[in-house]
Amino acid sequence: METENRKTDYLILVNKQNPLPDDWSERIDTVHCTNSLGMDVEAEITAYEAYLKLKEDLENDDIIVDLDSALRSKEIQEQIAADFTKEYGEEYTAKIVAVPGYSEHHTGLALDLYLNVNGEDIYFNFEMMEYAPLWEKIHQRITDYGFILRYPREREHITGYVYEPWHIRYVGCEAAREIHDQKLTLEEYLKGEREYVPLIDYGHSELYTAEELREMAILIKCRFAAWRGCHLRSLAYAGNGEKTVFVMKYVTDTDSEEKEGSWFLRKTTRGDWVIDRYLASE
Ligand code: DAL
Ligand code: ZN
Repeated sequence: METENRKTDYLILVNKQNPLPDDWSERIDTVHCTNSLGMDVEAEITAYEAYLKLKEDLENDDIIVDLDSALRSKEIQEQIAADFTKEYGEEYTAKIVAVPGYSEHHTGLALDLYLNVNGEDIYFNFEMMEYAPLWEKIHQRITDYGFILRYPREREHITGYVYEPWHIRYVGCEAAREIHDQKLTLEEYLKGEREYVPLIDYGHSELYTAEELREMAILIKCRFAAWRGCHLRSLAYAGNGEKTVFVMKYVTDTDSEEKEGSWFLRKTTRGDWVIDRYLASE
């Protein structure tokens, strides 16, 4: 598992309806590398480290991939859109190249791969499409490293883009596994997750067993269920000071801005867990 950066939202949604947040560049750390074509590629650091492990795993099976493009500025996206429009026309370009400001590549979490087959680099889209069995093998591995195939076949009506076998997106291992196993797109996953599947992070405790932490989380979820019009986003064990603390994030029907607060729990003399209090963050 990679060490994820706390300030980075690895589930950020950037698509035709959702532009890149203005402060995104402050929320990521990036790294540069040089690909086999001598081009400089910049990517978000956790996504890049996960990619290196994926690459190594694939190489064990003689599958060679490299990074064509990861983090792109709006200017570079503008250039790509212009080049594609000139070469293939506006209609095709709209199906495969995002408008600057609305590209997932601005996040640094989207990686475009290219192939090396029998010593030859294959990087043009149309050529890469001819290696379907190879892509299949690659796609089978990406989940274990926290990536999803962001633009799968026949999901254009949801993602807004046609099938792109080379475009993988880092979301973290847990989300990647769920998205893959439930055959979802990121759009569907986020919609569902925000309504029904909050992220529960039990963390690591020297003091409590996983079973006890689960028991505490259930207690909080039951209490929270009475908060009308509120939807749980995440619940994370935040350690044990005087009391046991879980940090909760949630949204409401009327405000999609995440709110945060802490639940404090304690054990009674009878050995049951009880909620002591809830404290909203400022
Ligand atoms: N090819 C993807 C959709 C992009 O341009 O961001
Ligand atoms: Zn891409």
